Amino acid sequence: MADLSINLAGIKSPNPFWVASAPPANTAYQCHNAFAAGWGGFVWKTIGTPIVNVSSRYSALNLGQMRMAGLNNIELISDRAPETNFREIKECKKEWPNHAIIASLMTDTRDNWHDFMKRARDAGADGVELNFGCPHGMCERGMGSAVGQNPEVIETIVGWVMEAAEIPVIVKLTPNVTSVVPAARAAKRAGADAVSLINTINSITQVNMETMCPEPYVAGLSTHGGYCGPAVKPIALNMLHEIASDPQCEGLPISGIGGISNWKDAADFIALGATGVQVCTAIMHYGFRIVEEMKDGLSDFLDSKGMKSVNDLRGLAVKKVTKWENLNLNYKRIATIDYDKCINCNLCYIACEDGAHQAIALISPDGHDLGPGRLPGKLIPKILEDVCVGCNLCALVCPVDDCIVMVDVPTGKKHMSWKQYQEGLAAGKLKPIPAHP
Ligand SMILES: Cc1cc2nc3c(=O)[nH]c(=O)nc-3n(C[C@H](O)[C@H](O)[C@H](O)COP(=O)(O)O)c2cc1C
Ligand code: SF4
Ligand code: SF4
Repeated sequence: MADLSINLAGIKSPNPFWVASAPPANTAYQCHNAFAAGWGGFVWKTIGTPIVNVSSRYSALNLGQMRMAGLNNIELISDRAPETNFREIKECKKEWPNHAIIASLMTDTRDNWHDFMKRARDAGADGVELNFGCPHGMCERGMGSAVGQNPEVIETIVGWVMEAAEIPVIVKLTPNVTSVVPAARAAKRAGADAVSLINTINSITQVNMETMCPEPYVAGLSTHGGYCGPAVKPIALNMLHEIASDPQCEGLPISGIGGISNWKDAADFIALGATGVQVCTAIMHYGFRIVEEMKDGLSDFLDSKGMKSVNDLRGLAVKKVTKWENLNLNYKRIATIDYDKCINCNLCYIACEDGAHQAIALISPDGHDLGPGRLPGKLIPKILEDVCVGCNLCALVCPVDDCIVMVDVPTGKKHMSWKQYQEGLAAGKLKPIPAHP
């Protein structure tokens, strides 16, 4: 069985699955339950000057049958006193010496950061995570994303923290920036041991048409909140990749966060450069026990690939992402339909006809081409191979798994990227590719 243990910047944990700093990581009670369920690490709900929360606090994007495809919240950091949180960290650490407990911290002045660092260390925390990401409430007080959006301020504050750091320091980054790379570079320059990302994304999920007030509703008003859950995973993966592939961030360990609900989501983050992952929304939705599937699934996958440890997977996909200008213009793939699986729903036909390239015809079962038209019945979709541009849309809308499969078509042409094409044109070695009619 593959070894799932990780060592993130000196923080050891029996598996890569950590509970993210959020409501599931608020108390010692939850910490015991999380570790008993199988989580490897626990990033405590952000400790700071205790705040007062509003009621209500959450809103969500539901997609069809799927509840909470995206979750929005206007909650702040811990409403419990720092002494309570640090005392409970100490108790939990005593009981779970081989699991990772990370104190998430947020404060303001240099002295206060020094004080928090000392208290986190005295409590026995394995590391700290600096919350530079909270996009509501705390940023109006000069903390959270107000810090994370300004690389100079990040560098200054991480510098203060490192003066007092005796345990590893993770800097949690905000996605509410044009590029996350300057923030990661600033954290690295200042001596941070690792970064984690993403925190939540600025968002408003919906308006209640009776009150004309967006959700969540607070006495007739609302405010923008932080968005997370499955809907944000692609954004998080892209930001993770930007840091993992940045030469100036080389060697900076990354804890991946954002929309992770199962082992495959976690594997995506690890393949794109994360050492481990953190989970919030999926626990809020389904509870701590989801970690069982995560551990079993990841372990089975690693075994099936002959990988001895989770570290063997780390970063394998990083170099597979390049700039658009390097992609091969002479590569071609087209859609093919497995008629044994097709249920004649014609969704592929409609999608390609109205939303793509009119490369699917509807034919009668006896092979007679009936041409385009809205006649569902028993007509069969047929890919017009010469017209298909291989955009993937039909395969994406098809409701039957593996019914539409994209296949390579040999073109007999050599690799040619946009960059090479431009160079060839400039040197007069290539003729312009004719535009589509
Ligand atoms: C209700 C709620 C409260 C949160 N509180 C904190 C917090 O105190 N500190 C922090 O660093 N992140 C906080 N987060 C952000 C999460 O730790 C995490 O970065 C984000 O939810 C993305 O992960 P997910 O998609 O698995 O939920 C909070 C998220 C939610 C939903
Ligand atoms: S891959 Fe795109 S162009 Fe080709 S048949 Fe499907 S939807 Fe049409
Ligand atoms: S979407 Fe899939 S199942 Fe539906 S007609 Fe097209 S190939 Fe068949």
